[in-house]
Amino acid sequence: MPYSTDKSRELYQRALAVMIEGGSSPSRGPANYGEYPLFIERGEGSSIIDVDGNRYIDWMMAYGALPLGHAHPRIVEAVNEAVTAGTLFAAATEIEVEVAEMLQQMVPSAERVRFANTGTEAAMAAIRLARGYTGKPKFIKFEGHYHGWYDDFLASAHPHYFVSLGHRNDPIKIPESSGLNRYALDDTIVVPWNDLRAIKRAIDTYRGQIAAVITEGIMANIGVIPPESDYLQGLRSLTQDNNILLILDETVTGCRIAPGGCQKYYGIKPDISIFGKALGAGFPVAAFVGRADIMEALAWGGVLHYGTQNASRIGLYAVRANLQEFLRDNGAAFSHIWDIGEKLCAGLKEIFEEKGVKAIVQSVGPMLQIMFTEKDAIRDYRDFCACVDRRKYQQFALALFKYGVYMTPSAALHSVATLAHTHDDVAYTLNAVRQALNDVEL
Ligand SMILES: Cc1ncc(COP(=O)(O)O)c(C=O)c1O
Repeated sequence: MPYSTDKSRELYQRALAVMIEGGSSPSRGPANYGEYPLFIERGEGSSIIDVDGNRYIDWMMAYGALPLGHAHPRIVEAVNEAVTAGTLFAAATEIEVEVAEMLQQMVPSAERVRFANTGTEAAMAAIRLARGYTGKPKFIKFEGHYHGWYDDFLASAHPHYFVSLGHRNDPIKIPESSGLNRYALDDTIVVPWNDLRAIKRAIDTYRGQIAAVITEGIMANIGVIPPESDYLQGLRSLTQDNNILLILDETVTGCRIAPGGCQKYYGIKPDISIFGKALGAGFPVAAFVGRADIMEALAWGGVLHYGTQNASRIGLYAVRANLQEFLRDNGAAFSHIWDIGEKLCAGLKEIFEEKGVKAIVQSVGPMLQIMFTEKDAIRDYRDFCACVDRRKYQQFALALFKYGVYMTPSAALHSVATLAHTHDDVAYTLNAVRQALNDVEL
């Protein structure tokens, strides 16, 4: 049967009459998917199936929220069992304590744990906590880092034309939305990442006013950009020496790079960390965790963090099953996802080399992204904005659909390997990549 997505097209037309861009987020609409998005009906392990019955190997996995893949039997079982006793109590529950204990054991910096629903919420609360605890107003965020859609973070988070970025010694703070509180970015300092001199300069300029530095451990919203060796350690020392809190946003890297997150992998101890996405295994569970004396500032709502849905009861049963799967057999699941990620990465590089395609693959274990560029490596946001052909990547990712592979169509995001992916999935994907490259103007 020839590849057809007619039903998706029809659904999109119907959706446009009730929803803006036919959905609930611009990243699911035409900005990424072109004419119309695929409407997905179900997921099975490493695959998704759209409403037309087409099957795809899924490397996007709900923006990384499904570390076990789709409909993992342990998650299905845990959730089915939990739901028969009620959905939500918005009151103290044993499962909340149990999962908090698991996190405390896995993540050495998690002396205390607070559950939220999304990465955005956890990051909002973390920055409020840092300001409340230190009594200082400002914080540093890095160019190209995304911490959710809260006003204070919405500067220089997405790719922009290189010429609009300003000088790297004094980056232009580019707001990412209309309608922001007009003072929201006044206390947000934007600095280039992977550059210790840049952070030193900012600390000197705003001495005594900075509550926190917030950073992704591996840049995951501008493709995949690993930290330079010793960069995160340098950031840790600088913040410590200058009485500034370090907030590590592990929304993407947590439950993915290592049991203890990327902080374990790179050997740093942040003051506050944020977890989301993979933690919830498809359910909206996020957490911010950290030093007991800092977290204590939440007591009695001194630094306020509320939420009817905080510590989602059903979600926490899924989290427990998820963590149990990843921790059993000495963390064999982590070895598997690293192995799959590395095999996919190596295979892609080989194809690009063989076909003379000007593209690189950047990765850390199970996280990887293809970048169409003349450069050998992309080491920060500025490199990405200046040297990566995002349109070409999008054409390529959309072309892959026809061959049964679903990677994010956004050049700024990334693919993830999960426990559900197999070596056969890697071989199938590499074959699809060979074919899709023939359909793209390179
Ligand atoms: C590093 C990082 N922090 C925070 C967020 C926001 O998480 P959520 O989409 O769950 O609000 C994201 C989402 O992509 C992210 O990548």
